[in-house]
Amino acid sequence: MSSQPATTRDFDVIVFGATGFTGRLVADYLRTCAPREHLRWAIAGRNRDKLAGLGLGVPIVVGDALDLAAMRELARRTKVVCTTTGPFARYGSELVAACAETGTHYCDLTGEVQWMRRMIDAHHERARTTGARIVHACGFDSIPSDLGTWAAQRAFVARFGHPARKVTGLYGEQSGRLSGGTLASAIETMREAAADRTIRALLGKPYALDPDPDGDHPAAPDERSIGWEPHLKMFTAPFVMAQVNTRVVRRAHALAGAPWGKDFVYREVMSTPGTARGAAMAAGITGAVFALGFAMMRPMLRDQLARRGPQPGEGPSAEQRARGHWTLRLVAEAARGEALIFTVSDRADPGYGSTAKMLGEAALCLAQEPLSSPGGVQTPSVAMAGPLLDRLRRAGLVFAAS
Ligand SMILES: NC(=O)c1ccc[n+]([C@@H]2O[C@H](COP(=O)([O-])OP(=O)(O)OC[C@H]3O[C@@H](n4cnc5c(N)ncnc54)[C@H](OP(=O)(O)O)[C@@H]3O)[C@@H](O)[C@H]2O)c1
Repeated sequence: MSSQPATTRDFDVIVFGATGFTGRLVADYLRTCAPREHLRWAIAGRNRDKLAGLGLGVPIVVGDALDLAAMRELARRTKVVCTTTGPFARYGSELVAACAETGTHYCDLTGEVQWMRRMIDAHHERARTTGARIVHACGFDSIPSDLGTWAAQRAFVARFGHPARKVTGLYGEQSGRLSGGTLASAIETMREAAADRTIRALLGKPYALDPDPDGDHPAAPDERSIGWEPHLKMFTAPFVMAQVNTRVVRRAHALAGAPWGKDFVYREVMSTPGTARGAAMAAGITGAVFALGFAMMRPMLRDQLARRGPQPGEGPSAEQRARGHWTLRLVAEAARGEALIFTVSDRADPGYGSTAKMLGEAALCLAQEPLSSPGGVQTPSVAMAGPLLDRLRRAGLVFAAS
């Protein structure tokens, strides 16, 4: 199938899933950026009336995510598709196939590792040929970890003349709540894992998204217990999103050709204060992470969570979002003892306020910046690196070495 050159397409960006909770926030973010970016953009989804009801005054494109022909048609019309139609394992595959075929850049905010693996296996080579940059995980998972590690390594090299051998991401103070789509996506992943032992095995692999997940890699087991971080003097506990973020950072390093060395290790945990109270918090978090994992593997408990939690289209209120904030500290270390602490943070709730900025800026970056990365199923740092970092800093995120 021949693809139209990206410059002759109707739009720079189409936001697909604009009627959803996160999609509305992303569309609103692009609305505020569009005039200064001279952006030609449109919103898309399966329900024209619902899209028109958003009152954004931009063109509307209608298509069902499960209709491959409609997704091809949509992808041909734009340079970039920015999608929030999750759970992606249920609604995402046709659009990725269409973008890979038509040479259309693509970004989403999925954290569904098993689905990303399927997309890599099915479309990486095709996207390399057509030049489509397919970029998963452009939300809170996993831009802070992925782009933060890239930026921390850049600062480390500038300071010490060589890269760090180990980076530990510590997610500390944060406040935010779940939306219905996020809960549905987590439940979908656990439902697939409970039903299929190969998916369970994949999710447990530290290098699940690497070109060769079972290749020869440095040991990097997932954290299972309380620990202590000596540079920050903080307790640590397992972090629920580490099973996504660590895989993305490791894929980034592999795709970039292992610039930080074959023995480079990335770990990720939660941090709590280095006090008795902090130790109790770390113990509580560790227990909660295991209890949640246990509950999510049982159909009855999953159903209860699904019934009691937020429903599709629902999420934290504007007031709750306004109170949100988060901080990631990256401790970069080299074998000879050099160390650097790099902070990534934002004064917005992680999953929605910050995520709308991150995904919106990723879409703008793919559409507007002269990127040099090749096509393929990339990570945010591999596809966009410096230009995305500059954009996110201008959007208010902090990326800083101390
Ligand atoms: N990485 C992160 O930090 C992060 C943060 C937030 C969200 N997320 C992810 O983003 C995704 C969306 O979450 P959300 O809370 O915004 O979900 P949501 O409110 O339920 O929205 C889902 C969207 O998908 C659309 N959709 C569903 N089936 C479709 C189909 N067959 N064809 C076309 N469109 C279809 C819905 O359209 P209708 O309105 O017509 O139903 C809606 O626009 C989830 O996967 C979540 O995990 C990730």
